[in-house]
Amino acid sequence: MTRDLMFKDEIQQLVAAAYRGLDEPDGPGMDFYDGEQLAELPRAASSWTLGVGNPLPHAGLRPGERVVDLGCGAGVDALLAARQVRPGGHVTGVDLLAEMVERARSLGRQAGLDNVDFRRAEMEDLPLADDSADVVISNGSINLSARKSRVLAEAFRVLRPGGRLAVADLTIREEELPPEVIGHPSAWAG
Ligand SMILES: C[S@@+](CC[C@H](N)C(=O)[O-])C[C@H]1O[C@@H](n2cnc3c(N)ncnc32)[C@H](O)[C@@H]1O
Repeated sequence: MTRDLMFKDEIQQLVAAAYRGLDEPDGPGMDFYDGEQLAELPRAASSWTLGVGNPLPHAGLRPGERVVDLGCGAGVDALLAARQVRPGGHVTGVDLLAEMVERARSLGRQAGLDNVDFRRAEMEDLPLADDSADVVISNGSINLSARKSRVLAEAFRVLRPGGRLAVADLTIREEELPPEVIGHPSAWAG
């Protein structure tokens, strides 16, 4: 069995518990955005920037494009993307946690955006049709998956030929960590 599949249920439970337990974070990812951009969103959005970078400058979004955000959290990138693909474009954010999806929907309503929707789903099993997206974005989420190759396969499946993938995420050099750490579910999830 590859390490990608070891402990997958345990890892997902730990990840879910960690993010479900968040209460009013203070914007750990806020510095990756310019202030003017965040000012376009409801004030609460800034505190829910949980990412590790900003995939949007790399995504090169254009009006009319269809975008999917994997592990969207409270939806900051999805909402910013929804503004960039107007008119005619649409963004779908997916997240493991119903709480995050509700938060993202609420921020979307407050932002007055009608071209974005949020779904509770696993990024390893997207409820989206083949070739249905022009761009897939993700920020700080794929590293949390116990099935990363499955996530990438799903991104490839929903992207149309010639579509684009823009990811901000964490990586590790496996050889720099002892095996008991790298294979430990809570270290992985953390
Ligand atoms: C570090 S947060 C990043 C959230 C958001 N992208 C941002 O930049 O603020 C990671 C998010 O990924 C979600 N997540 C973790 N594993 C997931 C999975 N297998 N499928 C979908 N979402 C997942 C978590 O619930 C959490 O909201």
